[in-house]
Parts: sequence; structure tokens; C-alpha cells
Amino acid sequence: MKAAFSQILNVADARRAAARRLPHGLFAYVDRGSEDETSIALNRLDLDAVRLAPRILRDVSTISTLASILGREQPLPLVIAPTAFAGLVWHDGEFALAQAAAKAGIPFCVSTQSITPIEHIAESGAQLWFQLYVWKNRQRMLGLLERAWAAGAETLVLTVDTAMPPNREYNIRNGFGMPLKASWRAGLDVALHPRWAVGVMLRALLTGGVPSYAHYPEAFRSRLGRETLSDEVALARDVTWTDVALLRRQWRGKLVLKGILRVDDARSAAEHGCDAIVVSNHGARNLDCAVGPTQVLPAIAEAVGGRMEILADSGVRRGADIARFLALGATGVMIGRAPLFGLAIGGSDGASRVIEILSSELRTTMGFLGSTELRQLRETLP
Ligand SMILES: Cc1cc2nc3c(=O)[nH]c(=O)nc-3n(C[C@H](O)[C@H](O)[C@H](O)COP(=O)(O)O)c2cc1C
Repeated sequence: MKAAFSQILNVADARRAAARRLPHGLFAYVDRGSEDETSIALNRLDLDAVRLAPRILRDVSTISTLASILGREQPLPLVIAPTAFAGLVWHDGEFALAQAAAKAGIPFCVSTQSITPIEHIAESGAQLWFQLYVWKNRQRMLGLLERAWAAGAETLVLTVDTAMPPNREYNIRNGFGMPLKASWRAGLDVALHPRWAVGVMLRALLTGGVPSYAHYPEAFRSRLGRETLSDEVALARDVTWTDVALLRRQWRGKLVLKGILRVDDARSAAEHGCDAIVVSNHGARNLDCAVGPTQVLPAIAEAVGGRMEILADSGVRRGADIARFLALGATGVMIGRAPLFGLAIGGSDGASRVIEILSSELRTTMGFLGSTELRQLRETLP
């Protein structure tokens, strides 16, 4: 363990350290939910309510966390979730996250709204997935997919739980509404966090200029501070199963739908030829009254588990949470905020520290449960 992280013993420690390092408005953007934020708390309570029954007197001297996700073996059942603007959390943040993913041997999912271009992220050597938000102009969207494919992304993750822009009032109060707007409050916030101001913002200004959406076509690329994105690359509100069918026809690699919370939608994903779904409420960042993934995962796994792979996310802060999702029927788990907290305090090494913590906690949980392989976790539901 790097000495710098000797005090970071769990994800909550990383979160507290990230809260000190990042400007308040940016930390809130990463950490918080939407509207009254009931879903954030409920996701936690839901996960805590999943209690597992240990199998005793089993030899756990060798524990394997080897997982298979979309046909590839990997040392952990994890994928780093797509997170917009990770490049504001640390200089070249998406690249640093991908480096941590490469080190852990897990995939990194690049967001449509990444600040670092996928071609540069690919230099990390990580297995790349690409997350798509559908643009109004579908031709331009298909052009983006060509670019992602050419950069080496073989798995496409279509996010289907963002039909509307979410209500996150704290972003407006903190001056972190998109687009970013200069304000006294935001300026003071940045000035009070000089390590971030110099290490991230100044470095970005000196190397590439004002951070911008790296995957938007050059002609439409909007600086984060500019008023509006071109309508053509605005997020479409008429995304339907027709788009899923289009993507299934056009995309040569694996197709994953992220943000499924219903059995009928999961069945439809299988019927449309998707390879996997992510049972997720977007980390409680979108619809505040959405059900939590733990509530619907068992029924979804029962209905479509034999036809598609099932990943889950939202709320993982401990290795035990990974075990919980796997016990409920997932074969893999996405982590969003946890690696971002690590990224905020130490770039790629910080994100690696968080992954190591989760991995070690998962092993401890498995040992206590008498599970020496991930699939045995299914037997630990009481
Ligand atoms: C700062 C931030 C930005 C996000 N941006 C995206 C995005 O661009 N696309 C997407 O599909 N999901 C996005 N998500 C959701 C994550 O992919 C993931 O579903 C969620 O973070 C999981 O919950 P967790 O943070 O509790 O692990 C974002 C999450 C965070 C925290």
C-alpha cells in the first residue's frame, strides 16, 4: 500500500478525503442524488437489509474472485461504471481511472460525456466499454460509435434510464449547473481548494484549454462553460426500443442496456438480442422515487438470467455490497462513485487503492460466508 493512502481504510475514508480535496460544488455533483435524495439513503438501507447466511466449516484457505463477464475472465467481478466529467475530478481523470482498471484487470466504461477522448484513454491498455447517450441526430450518434469501435471498445452500454434531465437543485445553488457558469460563489469555492485548482483546472488550461466534451463532433463541441450544446447532439427524449434494434443491427460487439428495473423491460432486452443488462437506478442520481436494484434483481435474474448476463450497480461502498448483488443474482457489479473518490485523492493510485479495498473486503466476506468461488454466493441467501 502506498504510504499516502495508509489512512484510507475503506471507501468512506476515501469519500471524506475527496470531500476535502474537491471544490464543494464538484464534490456534490459526484456524491449527491436528485430532488429530495431519498433514494440515496434507501439504496443504502436496501443493501444493508440483504443479510447473508454463512456456510460454516468449509475450507476457505483458497478463495477465488475470478469472474467471467461477457465472455472474458477477469480477477474481480467489477466494471468501472461510466461517469461523466471524471476528467474534472483529476487531471486526465478518465485516463487515470482506466489505468486503475487495467491494473486490476477489469473493464473501464467510457462515458459519452467524458472529458478525455477515448483514443487517449485506450493508451491505458484497459479493456474499454463505451457508454452511449442517444443524440437527437442518430447519424451523428452512429459516427460516434464508429469512433468508439475504432478506438477498441467492443462493448456498447446504452443508458436507458435518463429519459429526462434530472433535477439536481444543489448543482444550481453551487454554480455547478451544466453548462458551468462563472460566479463569485464558484470562484471562491475553487480558490478554497488550491490543490484542485492548480492540479486539475490550471493544468487543463495550460495543456488543452478549457475542458470540453471530448466525444462531441468538433464542429459542435461545446466548452463546458458555453451556453448550449447544438441541438443535434443534445440528448434525445424519443429513445425507444427502435433505437435498441438499430444499435443491435449496427454494433458488431456486445450490447448492454444500463438502467433496467423491471422484469418486462429485462425480457424485452433479451428479445432484442442484448448480451447483458445493468440493473441500476443510476446510483440514485436520476428518478428519486425509483425502486432500488436489490428489490428487483432476484425477479429479473429468475426471468432472464439464463438468456443474458446481469450486472448490477448503485450504492456499492463495501466488498460485502458486491457479495450482496452477486447473491441476489448478478454476475458482475459496476462501481461509480467509489473509484471516483479514490481518483479525487490520488489519481490512478487512489482509484487502485479503492479497488484493492473492495477486493480485500469481498474476499473477507466470501471467507466468512464459506464461499470459495463467486458462484457459491448464490447459496448464501437465507
Ligand atoms: C459523477 C457521476 C457521473 C455519472 N455519469 C454517468 C454517465 O455519463 N452515464 C451513465 O450511464 N451513468 C453515469 N453515472 C451513473 C454510474 O454509471 C453508475 O450507474 C452509478 O454511479 C452507480 O452507483 P454508485 O456511484 O453508487 O456506485 C454517473 C455517476 C456519477 C457518480
